[in-house]
Amino acid sequence: MALTPLQFRHNGREVAVFVTGGASLLTVLRELVGDHSPKFGCGQGGCGACTVLVDGEPVVSCVTLAEAIAGKAVETADGLKSGPDLHPLQTAFMEQFAAQCGYCTPGMLMAAKALLDHNPSPSRAEVVDAISGNICRCTGYEPIIAAVLAAAGRAARRA
Ligand code: FES
Ligand code: FES
Repeated sequence: MALTPLQFRHNGREVAVFVTGGASLLTVLRELVGDHSPKFGCGQGGCGACTVLVDGEPVVSCVTLAEAIAGKAVETADGLKSGPDLHPLQTAFMEQFAAQCGYCTPGMLMAAKALLDHNPSPSRAEVVDAISGNICRCTGYEPIIAAVLAAAGRAARRA
């Protein structure tokens, strides 16, 4: 099968891979880049477990053609930490017990990061809207909403 060269930035690092036609961004990230933080849930764009950011916007990577992200910047939950320091969202998720099985967590974190990057002081309704494409079957969502609001509040106090 013909392979196509593909270059993009992955969590700030240039990567170059060869992809098969029709490969999804999720497959490329997990199988070629070795980043297993985006999860395979439904594989149909409906659960949000595979959410990553492409040029700062959240996308469901299972239904995003890998070739469409050539030259773009992809951020995943794997790149949230800065050295030993957790991202404020990761800290807030821990403190608010916003992860149980954790399967939805990388996608939730990235959906929340996209929100806070664009809107550092969201309302509760804006948080709910931002994570509305991400399914969690464990937490009942309230701890996740509280964590995103706590992370936003912490960032506001630092500013
Ligand atoms: S695995 Fe991509 S949306 Fe469910
Ligand atoms: S923590 Fe289990 S699905 Fe969200």
